[in-house]
Formats: sequence, structure tokens, C-alpha cells
Amino acid sequence: MCAKKITKVERDVPTTGHDWDGIQELDNPMPRWWVWVFYACIVWGIGYTIAYPAWPLLTRATQGVIGNNERANVAAEIADWNARNAGNREKLVATDLNAIGDDPQLAAFAENAGAAVFRTNCVQCHGAGAAGIQSLGYPNLLDDDWLWGGSMEAIHQTVSHGIRNTTDPDARYSQMPAFGKDQLLEKPQIAEVVEYVLQLSGQEHDAVLALAGATVFADNCSSCHAGTGKGDREQGAPDLTDAVWLYGGSREAITYSVNNARFGVMPDWAGRLSEADIRAVSWYVHSLGGGE
Ligand code: HEC
Ligand code: HEC
Repeated sequence: MCAKKITKVERDVPTTGHDWDGIQELDNPMPRWWVWVFYACIVWGIGYTIAYPAWPLLTRATQGVIGNNERANVAAEIADWNARNAGNREKLVATDLNAIGDDPQLAAFAENAGAAVFRTNCVQCHGAGAAGIQSLGYPNLLDDDWLWGGSMEAIHQTVSHGIRNTTDPDARYSQMPAFGKDQLLEKPQIAEVVEYVLQLSGQEHDAVLALAGATVFADNCSSCHAGTGKGDREQGAPDLTDAVWLYGGSREAITYSVNNARFGVMPDWAGRLSEADIRAVSWYVHSLGGGE
């Protein structure tokens, strides 16, 4: 009925002596090619650890006899890239900010280089797609809603000097008062002005409170957010009439903003990035869709 049992006599191969219910384990030698590949791997492995940095020692690893160093390789590649783009970078720095677009080749270079600078330095706050992080105050850079301005000059200045940092004396600066925390307004007044802001932005609101809030707004908020609530770029005061929010447009978020103020900080980049990089990333941000 079942398959004929293979015996050592039949195959002339010794067994390991293991036998499970009549199934025997044959002791065939490894194929020669396999054995040679195996030895070759060992030889290659030893050679590799001699040639390249490999064995960890107390303070640093063995350095390898052929002197390969990935750090130096990367540095050389970067230097090479910089050297090849030196012309473009010089041109970018020499060109008037508003004239970059007149030179398609320069504009293409700036956009590529700027995208790379953005990926390295800006995504942690503004997000990989530059859409920002709403509710944390990291603005969306894709829209045409600008706090401080969307012209090349304005963006270049924002990126160079940053916002409200303590490291650059030329940083953009303004400070909304903490109306609740510092008791500049009474609780009922805050409730009123919050309803007025909800009304300004076209949301559901209490009309009676909002009416009183209009006066509070005119007296306390219009100097920065403008009488219309449309904001003021000189002071980085956001437009409160649209649906774009830095920290949030809910009743709770607005109340928090009025009570405590926010004080969003952005680092300055002039000391960290070259002028060419700053111009490139400014051009990139400008080209994202909302540039003016
Ligand atoms: C540590 C977080 C952080 C990093 C990193 C950062 N930003 Fe910002 N950025 C902010 C914040 C916060 C604001 C808004 C500040 C405010 O409330 O005015 C801002 C605002 C801006 C604005 C002004 C937008 C407007 O509406 O006027 C631009 C432009 C900008 N960032 C570009 C960049 C670029 C380019 C980089 C990378 C080189 C960068 N940012 C890196 C936090 C950051
Ligand atoms: C001295 C100028 C100044 C005054 C006065 C001021 N603000 Fe502001 N306000 C700002 C700035 C600047 C911001 C941007 C947030 C930040 O500080 O980073 C802001 C942000 C806000 C926000 C958050 C907007 C968002 O997109 O999330 C609200 C809401 C707001 N203000 C409401 C008010 C109200 C209501 C008053 C009056 C009671 C007022 N502000 C008075 C400057 C001012």
C-alpha cells in the first residue's frame, strides 16, 4: 500500500541513526559548491573587518586599513554638490528678491534647494506638507492667509530673523495682552468679546452678548486686530473674520486665547543657514501657493 521504505542498502548512504516510525535521517554530505561558498564567505568576512571599520573597541571601533570613512564621504559629496551649485547659489544671493522668478533656471534651482532646506529645518513645526499644525499655532504656509506678509521680502525677513525669539534683536515682535490672567478685563467682558469674535468669523453666537462684545473689541482689540477684525500684518495679529485659525476657532480656544494670550515663537535662521539657503527656502514657501 504505502511507499516503499528507503533503506541504507538501497541508497548506499549512511544514516545519522535517527529513526522516527521508520523514517530515517540520511547523512548525505553537503554539496561541494555550497561548502566552498560557505568558506568563501568566512574569508570575505574576515577580509571585510580588516579593510573597513568594524570591531568596537573601548573608545572607538577599529578603523580599517583602506581608510574608508562614511562621514568623510558624505562631507565630500556635500562639498562636491556645493561646488557644482556655487554658481547658482551666488546668483541667488546677487539677484533681487523679486526678480528670481524672471530667471526660470534660477527659480527651478531655488525651488529644489528650498524644498530640501524645508525638509531639514521646517517640517518639525510646519509639517511635511507645510500645512502647519492647527491648534498648536504652527501656521499653514500653503494658504494666502499671512500673519506677517506673503511677499518675498516679508517671508525672507520672517525666515531670516524669526518671530518673538530672544536670540535675534531684529525678530518680528508683538505681544497680545493676557486679558484674563492679568485681569485687564472682567470675566463677563471676556465672555462678551468671545461671542463677538464668534460672530466676526460667522459662527453660531449669542447675539446679545456679541453686541456688548463689539464695544469691548473696539476698546481693547482693534488696535491690533483692526476695527474690522481683519488683523494687522505689522503686528502679526491674525485675521479673526475668516475660518483660518492659528490656535482654534471654537468658543473654548478663543476664550483661552483671550484669557492667556499665545505668543508663538519661531527661531531665527540667519545665523544657522546661509543667505542662499534662506533665499531658497523663502522662494519655496512663496511658491507653495500663497505667495504674493
Ligand atoms: C520651532 C518651530 C518652528 C520652526 C522650526 C520653523 N517655524 Fe516658521 N513659524 C513657527 C511659528 C510658531 C510661527 C507663527 C508665529 C506667530 O504666531 O506669529 C511661524 C511662522 C512662520 C512664517 C510666517 C507665516 C505668516 O503667516 O506670516 C513663515 C514664512 C515661516 N514660519 C517659515 C518657516 C521656515 C521657512 C522654516 C524653516 C527654515 C520655519 N518656519 C521653521 C514655528 C516654527
Ligand atoms: C497688542 C496686540 C493685540 C491685542 C491688543 C489683541 N491681540 Fe489678539 N492676537 C495678537 C497676536 C499677535 C496674535 C497671534 C497669536 C500669538 O500671540 O502668537 C493674537 C491672537 C489672537 C487670537 C487667536 C487667533 C487664532 O487664529 O487662533 C484670538 C482669538 C485673539 N487674538 C483675540 C483677541 C481679542 C478678543 C482681543 C481683545 C480682547 C485681542 N485679541 C487683543 C495681538 C493682539
